[in-house]
Amino acid sequence: MSATVEVDVHLVEADRAAAMAHDVRVGLKATPKVLPPVWFYDEAGSILFDEITRLPEYYPTRAEHAILEARSAEIAHRTGATTLVELGSGTSEKTRLLLDALAGRGDLERFVPLDVSEEVLRGAADDISRAYDLPVHAVVGDFHRHLRELPREGRRLVAFLGGTIGNFHPGQRRKFLAELDAAMDHDEWLLLGTDLVKDEARLVAAYDDAQGVTAEFNRNVLRVINNELGGDFDPDAFEHVALWDPDNSWIEMRLRSRRDQHVRVADLDLEVDFAAGEELQTEISTKFTPEGVREVLWDGGFVVEETWTDPAGDFQLTLARPWC
Ligand code: AVJ
Repeated sequence: MSATVEVDVHLVEADRAAAMAHDVRVGLKATPKVLPPVWFYDEAGSILFDEITRLPEYYPTRAEHAILEARSAEIAHRTGATTLVELGSGTSEKTRLLLDALAGRGDLERFVPLDVSEEVLRGAADDISRAYDLPVHAVVGDFHRHLRELPREGRRLVAFLGGTIGNFHPGQRRKFLAELDAAMDHDEWLLLGTDLVKDEARLVAAYDDAQGVTAEFNRNVLRVINNELGGDFDPDAFEHVALWDPDNSWIEMRLRSRRDQHVRVADLDLEVDFAAGEELQTEISTKFTPEGVREVLWDGGFVVEETWTDPAGDFQLTLARPWC
């Protein structure tokens, strides 16, 4: 007998296609032009991101992993969680550190991963269910829209790792946290991963590596538009740009047009001009101070219970709970 895998689907392929079409239509007509980072991650983009996490310059993944390695047992003990919820892809080794710790205490009852990709989710759900002999209740959904659909069984620890909250603009972030808060009980927990402010040179290097992997990851969004919406972007006609914006405390990734060019996105019947040097914004990645994390969480309805950093102080994990 093996444990059950249940999958609730709140987002189908047609929704993804419609959302991408909307973002591309609006974003390429905007001034300045902008695309949300969610569209980096087709299969090729996910492989490139995986490569990024192993780059010498890209410290966040290793730092967060080190914190979890050192603190998962403590987190399991402090929360007494019976349900691990993970927002975003549930395939990572980091999830397993938390699952090991919770399972080790003997009170883990289920794993609830939420992800936009049904394929990724089903793969991860089957793997984890088998490896841990654990019921998995997976949710295919978008964490900007479907938090209220999270199953409520058990005492939940909601993990939102990787620093992904850094990709949200302040308004999106407030809305996300308020919705998460509304979906949680007072005795449940949020575990949040955030990258921290540090030396500008290290920040920029993490998003502009010597091997050019991040540049290819950035350009991949153009390939996604070509493949999925019939675009005719020449990715090599765009230069990768990563810069630190100290006023907003975020790294910004952009694609800079190397020349005057005209792009057509056939499926949207969309024609777009780029001037030489014109930039398309593709991602922000916010870097926080520990006080900043506290404020952001408080504004979203959470009180900080404990924080941990890696030995170098590069990255922070925060354990928080709803304040009422
Ligand atoms: C996975 C969103 C946290 O912002 O550092 C890595 C994505 N972009 N290199 C980040 C990313 C460029 C990453 N997050």
